[in-house]
Amino acid sequence: MADAAREAFARAVRAGLSARPRTLPGTWLWDEAGSVLFDRICDSPDYHPTGRETALLPAVAFEVAGLVGPRASVVEYGSGASRKVRTLLDALDRPARYLALDISRDYLAASVARLAPDYPAVAMTPVCADYGGPVRLPVRLDDGPVLGFFPGTSIGNFAPDAAQGLLARIRDTLGPSRLLVGVDPTRDEARLYRSYGGDLMAAFHRNILVRMRRELGADLDPEGFAHAVRVEPEPFRVEARLVARGAQTIRLDEDAFVFADGESVRTDTSHKYPPDAFRALAERAGWRPERVWLDPDGLFSLHLLRTE
Ligand SMILES: C[S@@+](CC[C@H](N)C(=O)[O-])C[C@H]1O[C@@H](n2cnc3c(N)ncnc32)[C@H](O)[C@@H]1O
Repeated sequence: MADAAREAFARAVRAGLSARPRTLPGTWLWDEAGSVLFDRICDSPDYHPTGRETALLPAVAFEVAGLVGPRASVVEYGSGASRKVRTLLDALDRPARYLALDISRDYLAASVARLAPDYPAVAMTPVCADYGGPVRLPVRLDDGPVLGFFPGTSIGNFAPDAAQGLLARIRDTLGPSRLLVGVDPTRDEARLYRSYGGDLMAAFHRNILVRMRRELGADLDPEGFAHAVRVEPEPFRVEARLVARGAQTIRLDEDAFVFADGESVRTDTSHKYPPDAFRALAERAGWRPERVWLDPDGLFSLHLLRTE
């Protein structure tokens, strides 16, 4: 890890553990191990968003392809394993390029390397960037239609104001374009507890502690924290926490962060936006909602937005 990134990680950890309530920013869940664990979560039948979105995508991709037209540039935000984009690339008429944007550098490179041989006519560019701030793409996109793709319900990791800010930044980055966004509107609490609980999710969230130990030299016991999930109202969301099993201390250089038994630190939040609420949010960010597709059981939605 480069010195600047390590410094930023250490600063975020110190600020988050000093704050009340305590938080560890979810962005730091995503290194190669985090990405691999997340892929296993996607393959698990308990985690509903992936299966529901994957089932919706072929029909959606077909319609989107008709609206977007030939020679499009596709820019995926949080591309991860770049699996879902295959459905879009297959449906689009001779797509010109694919830019995969992700914070998980090594995993990003490996995913694009795996995808590229299957699409020799599509120019592929991995872009390692943090969409939590402004993003500049390394390629101009003004020679054809532009389609942003933001699947996997990652927009839900942002509270409404922050989600609005992110959508506005995507608009600034992409210019005249469309954006296809995955949004989880699920209200079924039992389903949410099943999707966000379990051993794989626990390992995924504890990975941030493992990273702190390995990359920052923090003195802590990852197994001293249990993964716990809570569904909260207003705004409706799932919060993931690491809860101290007995008294725990996290030491980072000269700082000691003490947890009494049962004290917790929040590691991630997943907001669940119903279609109307998400459409209103997108409009506030300067997008025009064009279409929405809803899973038959109301467990996933895909929104197509356009700039003009
Ligand atoms: C929930 S996964 C979704 C992966 C894939 N798009 C899918 O739908 O299955 C979120 C992805 O976004 C990436 N990510 C998370 N926070 C990010 C950030 N702030 N900037 C860029 N990428 C980020 C992660 O590395 C991960 O690959």
